[in-house]
Amino acid sequence: MRKAIYPGSFDPMTYGHLDIIQRAAKIFDELTVSVLNNKLKTPLFSVEERVKILQKAVADMPNVKVESFSGLLVDYAKSRDVPVVIRGLRAITDFEYELQNAQTNAKLSRGELDTMFLTTSLEYAYLSSSSVKEIASFNGDISMCVPDFVAELVYQKYGFLKK
Ligand code: PNS
Repeated sequence: MRKAIYPGSFDPMTYGHLDIIQRAAKIFDELTVSVLNNKLKTPLFSVEERVKILQKAVADMPNVKVESFSGLLVDYAKSRDVPVVIRGLRAITDFEYELQNAQTNAKLSRGELDTMFLTTSLEYAYLSSSSVKEIASFNGDISMCVPDFVAELVYQKYGFLKK
């Protein structure tokens, strides 16, 4: 069985993430979307909230599950017996950071964990969770960035009603 992990912060999940999830789910038999529980960052959504959002978004994808993890990605992947990590590349600016992470993970895992990059579809190439949060914090329109139910939750966090 071909298994992969798609790790990230997903704070919050965007259409760009969903695009990568849908495409990776066609390549692999089982895809686990894994939300990093990062104690160093102060996220907008708790890990539990981010997992719930993702679970709702992938409810119609039978070979996709959602989990959270903490610690090193290589340790988590090993514990799940998964040899491949999926990451999305939007632009050349993502590449240096992603290449370094992929090489670090390959080294840390002694070659047992590979990273596969999927290029984000062009229509979502401009999207990031950070810009979604910035736009929403000024009550701007994020309907082109995230599904409606996510937009509603983001606006609630900033004390706005859904636009
Ligand atoms: O959505 P993000 O914030 O770009 O995701 C980054 C993520 C979660 C993939 C990365 O930070 C990660 O794997 N963190 C776990 C800690 C780890 O293994 N670090 C070593 C890799 S350099």
